[in-house]
Amino acid sequence: MTEFRKLTLNSSKNSLHSPRTMSTKNIGIGMAGFGTVGTGVWETIQRNGSLISNRAKGAFSLSIIKAAVRDITKKRIDDAPADLFTTDWQEVVRHPEVDIVVELIGGTTTAFDIVAEAIKLKKPVVTGNKALLAERGKELFALSKQYDTPIHFEAAVAGGIPVIKAVQDSYVGNRIETMSGIINGTSNYILERMTNAGLDYLEALKEAQDLGYAEADPALDVNGWDAAHKAILLATLAYGFSVDPEQVYVRGIERVRTIDIDFATKLGYAVKLLSVVRQHSDGSVELRTQPSFIAKSHILSSVNGVFNAVAVRGDASGEALFYGRGAGKEPTASSVVADLVEAAYTFVHTAGHRGFLPYTESGQLRPIEETETSYYVRFAVTDRPGVIAEIANILANDGIGISGTHSPVDPEDPDKDFVDMVFLLHKCPFGKLQETLKKCEALDCVTEEPVVFRIEKLATS
Ligand code: HSE
Repeated sequence: MTEFRKLTLNSSKNSLHSPRTMSTKNIGIGMAGFGTVGTGVWETIQRNGSLISNRAKGAFSLSIIKAAVRDITKKRIDDAPADLFTTDWQEVVRHPEVDIVVELIGGTTTAFDIVAEAIKLKKPVVTGNKALLAERGKELFALSKQYDTPIHFEAAVAGGIPVIKAVQDSYVGNRIETMSGIINGTSNYILERMTNAGLDYLEALKEAQDLGYAEADPALDVNGWDAAHKAILLATLAYGFSVDPEQVYVRGIERVRTIDIDFATKLGYAVKLLSVVRQHSDGSVELRTQPSFIAKSHILSSVNGVFNAVAVRGDASGEALFYGRGAGKEPTASSVVADLVEAAYTFVHTAGHRGFLPYTESGQLRPIEETETSYYVRFAVTDRPGVIAEIANILANDGIGISGTHSPVDPEDPDKDFVDMVFLLHKCPFGKLQETLKKCEALDCVTEEPVVFRIEKLATS
């Protein structure tokens, strides 16, 4: 046993009560990446290592043996043994004492190599990398099957909320009808700060980054792809088939402005980045992520700050809401540690089969053009006589009903040439709306691509 292992086992307040026996197996963990979440994993194991061993009835203990980092000189934790860090991920994965590999570097290239290598060495993998699994999960789960070595990914969806395990275990007797929700903490934080604190978009983004919520590349948070990757993972789990990310409709929050939020508020809605996963009666799966208006009466409209919520509806269970912290050091570390414990059990017991397994079935996405809601559309227009009529004419000719329209007047400059014009539109297929908006965009008075929000009619509103 290394000096560090002794430190880990003896450092917890609970160690006196540990039922560890001579047969306790020391499970060595190798980390690829040791940033915010990695540090949280270290601290959680330090703090609760003996508690975890107790709960495993002394069958195993967890120790971080080796960690690959980009900059070995950077100070991360106070009590790190001198030989903990390396810059070579292969040293971590191939280390003879490493039984389980944790991948937390993000991205889809080196992370892929790390996960693939670990699986080929029959070392279970724990990852929080939704981009990797959403983009290249098919290849990795094929390897996982070939080498009979699991990939655990609770931390990849909704941070500290145990929604993956809940679905895998507790919904095994259900057909999943919908799994929809707010699954990007950074964008939810930004939208809430714009709504409640009057911050502009960039100020709110800066706050979210300072608080450690944003991805290393915050573009993924605000362009919708972080949430979309999570929604893809939920869909592959619930429906078992491989989803091509290029077929998924994704819009982020970059074009949301204060005017949209003010308008939504006046109409009784909250603006949220919503991901929708829904199976239709023909078996096709609707899968999309985009800014949406949600009625204030619906519980999802109250999910604020970095919190996430996923509403899961099974045909037998009805709807349940999973709510909690969707990002941040400790909540995400909590999910990583839960997966580590699950992986550790496979070294002392034979693993049972899961109810839901990704990439085991065939299925198909529903084309986004066929999905239907009502809509809020904001046009930027040159303000001249007839503008409203021209847009309304195109909508009327295409059979799209208008339920309201508004053009806020700037009291300082009522004769301003460029204005925002908002239309609330009745329910219609999204494909039809897109075609009609193209015609509107071609009008010389419309100065940029219109901004569209879905007005979501959620089941329990
Ligand atoms: N950056 C993510 C979020 C956290 O804001 O939700 C991890 O996915």
